[in-house]
Amino acid sequence: MTTTRGIKATAKSGDASTDATTKTGAKMGCTVSRTSCIEAVVNVCVAATVLDNVCVFSRMERAWWPHSIECGGTRPPAKAKFARLNHGSFGSAPRPVLAAASAAREKWLAQPDALYFGGGLEAAIKASHRAAARAIRAECACLVENSTVATAIVATRWRRLGGRALVLSVAYGGVRRSLETILGQDAVVVADVPFPGTDHRNALDGLRVALAEHRPRFAMLDHISSQPAIELPVAEMVATCRSWGVREVAIDAAHCLGQFDALDVPGLGADWWFSNVHKWGFAPPSACVLWSGHLDTTRHVVPSWNGSDGLLDACLWTGTRDYASFVAVERALEYLEAWRSVDGETAPSYNRRGLRGAMNDLQRAWNVEPVYDEDACCSALGMVRLPPGLDLSKDAPGQPASVNSLRARLRDRYGVEAAVGGFRIKNNESSSVEGFLRLSHAVYNTDRDFARLRDAVLDLVAAS
Ligand SMILES: Cc1ncc(COP(=O)(O)O)c(C=O)c1O
Repeated sequence: MTTTRGIKATAKSGDASTDATTKTGAKMGCTVSRTSCIEAVVNVCVAATVLDNVCVFSRMERAWWPHSIECGGTRPPAKAKFARLNHGSFGSAPRPVLAAASAAREKWLAQPDALYFGGGLEAAIKASHRAAARAIRAECACLVENSTVATAIVATRWRRLGGRALVLSVAYGGVRRSLETILGQDAVVVADVPFPGTDHRNALDGLRVALAEHRPRFAMLDHISSQPAIELPVAEMVATCRSWGVREVAIDAAHCLGQFDALDVPGLGADWWFSNVHKWGFAPPSACVLWSGHLDTTRHVVPSWNGSDGLLDACLWTGTRDYASFVAVERALEYLEAWRSVDGETAPSYNRRGLRGAMNDLQRAWNVEPVYDEDACCSALGMVRLPPGLDLSKDAPGQPASVNSLRARLRDRYGVEAAVGGFRIKNNESSSVEGFLRLSHAVYNTDRDFARLRDAVLDLVAAS
């Protein structure tokens, strides 16, 4: 494996002072600023109260991720409890961001009356709205709970306007079902994105064919699809939709915030764009940035006091609930902005490079070929073909899997969490189930995680 591992994330970039703790970090190969050291020390205390004898290594590095503080003992563990290689599904928030969410929650629990009626909660959420807008180079944006809620908001507007909506064949199943539920099954048409064998040319061809055939009024495109994970030429796709007279184009960009160094969302030319921040943007569950030129004229699907005031205000209060993850978005985006590997890479660059290295190694070890144009279609998510001999019949992509599924066996027997998918692939008249793995590379992954996956799969193939 070729990736160089490392961590660095600071509250504010540019704070490069060194104190005693910084030196300790540097000695261990970590570059850590003063601010992050303070946070690290706080985290150490939290971790240390939970676990006796937490090793120095784990204090400084592993304690940043909630799933990795479980290592006990007096040395770095030979093995973490789990190799988490499915960041794409649920994301993970580092401890400093979780601390910001906890602080917001505690403040609310201590004095909700003051926070609500004194305007503090609204001000904190508005600060996160502004941070989210900055991250996507937009003038304004709002936060909704997740991409599912964003989809429902867009689909409900489209139902009011009336007309058919196009989705891609690789659309997230929940998004497609949501459109079918809100608009009606007959009002949803599908553009084929071939998989395996995807490249940007055939994805655009599939879109053109469906636009010509169905003449939809609306289109819900994907920028990085889920299962299979494919980065798509979304700006060209938007332009193609426009040229066929599509009135409103939405982009399901659930995986995008935190996967691109520079996002210029208004520049994509779409009407709607939404991205979870809890996937690749370091926010705790859950928060999703929603951008549109139609925020003023669109209603929230959960209207409350501000329900008739446009989305920007309606999003500030959808009834009593926990708003801590919304408040923590500002801190999460600071963390994302400041994160650097020991080689100075940003999180998107580091993950994309790491993913390709891991994919190459796995494909070599499993003796399988690339499944699509990797240069065009991979992000920090990528598809790898599983070697033959494995039973994939119980691994429908993106759906809960039974105890006998490959996914469950990898998790329960080998401690590897990975997004296994048995895809039904058509070959002329017939079809068969073929096995693929949607691999994620997150900033906390190590070469050891991928080696564990590699060996577990080889073991299962040998036993089959
Ligand atoms: C492409 C895509 N769209 C939408 C969603 C739904 O996201 P959420 O469950 O946060 O609403 C997902 C979830 O993984 C996804 O991958």
